[in-house]
Amino acid sequence: MKIQTLISQMTLEEKCSLLSGGTQFTTKALERLGIPAIFLSDGPHGVRKQAGAADHLGLNPSLPATCYPTAATVANSWDADLAEQIGEHLGVEAAAQGVSVLLGPGLNIKRNPLCGRNFEYFSEDPYLSGKLAAAYVRGIQSQGIAACPKHFAVNSQETFRMANDSVVDARALHELYLTAFEIVVKESRPKSLMSSYNKINGEYANDSALLLQKTLREQWGFDGFVVTDWGGSNDRVQGLIAGSHLEMPATKGNSDRTVMAAIQSGELAEELLDQRLEELLAVWLDVAVKEEGSFDVQAHHAFAQKAAEQSIVLLKNEDNLLPLKPETKVSLLGTFAANPRYQGAGSSLVNSTQVDVLAKAFAVNYAPETADVIVYTMGLEAIEETEGLDRTHMKLRQSQIDELLALREINPNIVVVLTAGSPVEMPWADAAKAIVHGYLGGQAGASAMARVLTGEVNPSGKLAESYPFYYEDVPSAGIFPNHGPTSEYREGLYVGYRYYETAAVEVRYPFGYGLSYTAFEYSDLNISETEATCTVTNVGSRDGSEIAQLYVSCEHEALQAPMKELKGFAKVFLKAGESKKISIPLDDKAFRYYNTSTNQFEVAGGNYRIHIGASSADIRLTSSIAVAGTGADIPPYFSGKTKRMTDEEFAQQLARPIPSHDWDTAALITRNDPIARVAHAKSGLARLVFRVIDGKKTKAEEKGKPDLNILFIYNMPFRGIAKMMGGMVDMAMVDAMLTVVNGKLFKGVGQLFGAWRRMRKAQKQGIT
Ligand code: BGC
Repeated sequence: MKIQTLISQMTLEEKCSLLSGGTQFTTKALERLGIPAIFLSDGPHGVRKQAGAADHLGLNPSLPATCYPTAATVANSWDADLAEQIGEHLGVEAAAQGVSVLLGPGLNIKRNPLCGRNFEYFSEDPYLSGKLAAAYVRGIQSQGIAACPKHFAVNSQETFRMANDSVVDARALHELYLTAFEIVVKESRPKSLMSSYNKINGEYANDSALLLQKTLREQWGFDGFVVTDWGGSNDRVQGLIAGSHLEMPATKGNSDRTVMAAIQSGELAEELLDQRLEELLAVWLDVAVKEEGSFDVQAHHAFAQKAAEQSIVLLKNEDNLLPLKPETKVSLLGTFAANPRYQGAGSSLVNSTQVDVLAKAFAVNYAPETADVIVYTMGLEAIEETEGLDRTHMKLRQSQIDELLALREINPNIVVVLTAGSPVEMPWADAAKAIVHGYLGGQAGASAMARVLTGEVNPSGKLAESYPFYYEDVPSAGIFPNHGPTSEYREGLYVGYRYYETAAVEVRYPFGYGLSYTAFEYSDLNISETEATCTVTNVGSRDGSEIAQLYVSCEHEALQAPMKELKGFAKVFLKAGESKKISIPLDDKAFRYYNTSTNQFEVAGGNYRIHIGASSADIRLTSSIAVAGTGADIPPYFSGKTKRMTDEEFAQQLARPIPSHDWDTAALITRNDPIARVAHAKSGLARLVFRVIDGKKTKAEEKGKPDLNILFIYNMPFRGIAKMMGGMVDMAMVDAMLTVVNGKLFKGVGQLFGAWRRMRKAQKQGIT
C-alpha cells in the first residue's frame, strides 16, 4: 500500500504516536495497518542490542556482538574499503539481531583532545572523517538496514552536552564542522541521521530549520529521517517544523500530546505532520527486519583482527628494535598486557563475543632482568575515555610513567604499546626505543598488535589527528570545555594541524604521521584540474602499504586560510621493490572556501600549491596549478597565527555580540539549564540534592570508574527529566520542580502534584 494511502487511514492520534519511540530503543507498531515496530541500536563499532532492561548509557548488558576497533582507530587506516567492510560486518550483525537502524557512525570533529567521546570519532579533519564515515554508511546499508550518522552537528564536548551552545563562526561551521556531514550525506545517502544535543549559535540543532531543512535536505539532498539524540528534543513542535522526525526514547505519549495540541491550535499544520510521517515511514517500512538470523562469530572476530592490524600506528622504531625476531626473549609488562582496554565507555559499549589478550601471544614471559626486549603496555584508563565526561588533562597516569622510567634503568630495549583512543602527552617518549600505538583496537586488537610486534604484519597506519607536545599547545586549551552555557570556538578554522602549521607550533607527531618496517619514495607528480598522479615505490626490503596524502595551499593573498588542508588520500600496497602509479582526485572540495558575504562556498581564483606527502609534515612532491575563481569579494578572516580570536575579531566573525559564557547565578533556573546549576539554586533542598549528586560523581572519579548515570544527570538540563524517564514525568511536572528549585517549595509541590494527576489522567485516556 502506498505510504500516503496508509497515512490517510490513520487518526490524528495514531499519526502523532508514530513520531516518537515506543520504548527505549524501539518505535511503536500500528498493527491495524500492518506497521511493525522497528529496533534502533547503538552503535558505531559493534551492535549493542539490549534484549532485557534497556538504557542508553551502556549500563545493562546487550546481546553478544563483535567489538570492532573504534572509529578513532579505524581512521588511522585511511582505508575507505576497510571502513566499508567494517560497515558490512556491522550491518550483517545488526540485521541478524533484528536491528533496523544502526546508530552510527559518529563523525564529530575532534576539536580538542580532551573530549570524552573522541574515541568514537574519526579525525580532526573533515575530509578524512567524511570519507571514512561515508564508507561505513555504504557498508551498513548494503545489508538492507539504515545507518544513522551522528551527532549533527558541532558536538565536540561532553560537558553540559545537552545544554551547551556551540558558538562558532560561519566559516568554521561550514568548512570544518558541516563538511564531514556533507560528504557523508552526498556520497552515501544515509537513510537516517541523528541530530546533536547541543545548540549551535543559540538554537538547538534539533530545532534548527536552517540545519535540518535548508542545509541537510535542500542543499545536500538528504531524503532519510532525522532522529533526536536520546532525550535531545527541546521544542517538539519546532523540531517537527524544522525537519526532525522521530523523537527518542519513549515518553509514554507525553510528547505526542504536545504535537496533537499544536495541530488542534493551528500552530502546526497537519499537512506538515503528514509529510514528516511520510518521510519517516519511507525508511521505516524499507528497513523493517523481516527475519532474524545469525552471523559467523569466528569469521567476524578474524575480520575485527584484520581491521585492527590495518589501523595500528608505529610511532618510533630506534635501532629497528621492531619487529621482534622469533628468538627474541620478551618481557611483557604493564596493566593492559592481561587486561586489555579495547573500547570506550557509554552508549557504544559492546558486549564482545570474545576478547584477545596480548599476554597469550608470548609463550614465555621473561623477567626484565633476563629479557632482550621489554614490551611495556601503557595508556589511558577507563574513566578517561567515556561518554558524558571530558578529560581534565592530557597526561598518562604518573604511576605508569614511573614504572616505565624504572624499567629503562634495568633494560633500555623498551617497546611501548600504547592504548588510548585520543592523543596523550608523551614526555616519556625518550624512555622507549620503539612506540606502537594500538588506539582502541576492538576485541581482537591484542592479536593484531602481536602480529605487528612480530612482523607478521607490517604497520601502515598513520595518525588521523595531531599529537601536540603539551596540552597548552592546543588552540582551544584554556577555553575547553567551558563550564558555562556556551562553548566559544574562538580558534575558528584552525583546529589540529590547521593551527599547528599556520602558527608554526611544533608537535610531537604530526597529522598523517606513521612509520613502517619498509620505506617509500615518491616521484613524477602530475596535476590536472581533476586529479593528481604520482608514482610510489617501496624501496625497502619488506612488503607494505603506504598512505599518500594530498594537501592544498591557496596562494591568494586576500584569503586567510590554514597553511594547507587535506583534500585527498590514497592507500597503496607495494611489494618490496615495487612501484605503482597512484591517482588522487581533486574534487569539488579541493579549492573551495565559505564566503560569509555570499553565504555559500566560493573559489578564490589564482595559484594553488598541491602537495603530496607521507604526512602533513613530510611533503615529498609539490606542484602548482592556476584555478579560475568564482569572482566573489573575499571577506576578512582571522589569520590563525595566534591561538584564538580576540573579542573584537570573534564578535566580527559572529556578526553579533558574543553571548555571555557565564551562568547568570542571580537568574532563575530554567528548563534548559543543566541540573548541575542547582549548586547555586535558591532552594536549600535543591542545593542539598546537588551536593549528593556531586559527591557521588567525585567518589566515582576517585575510584577510577565512571558512574554514567550520575554523569548523565549532572550534565542534563531539567527538560531532560521529562524526556528520559519513560513518561513518568512531563514538562508541566518539570516546571513545577523548577518552582521548588527556585525557592517556592510549597507552591512547587502543589503544582507538581496537580501536574502529575493531569498527566496520569491524560495517559490513561490518550495515546501512549
Ligand atoms: C548518545 C548517542 C546514542 C544514544 C542511544 C546518547 O546518549 O549520545 O550517541 O546513540 O544515546 O544510546
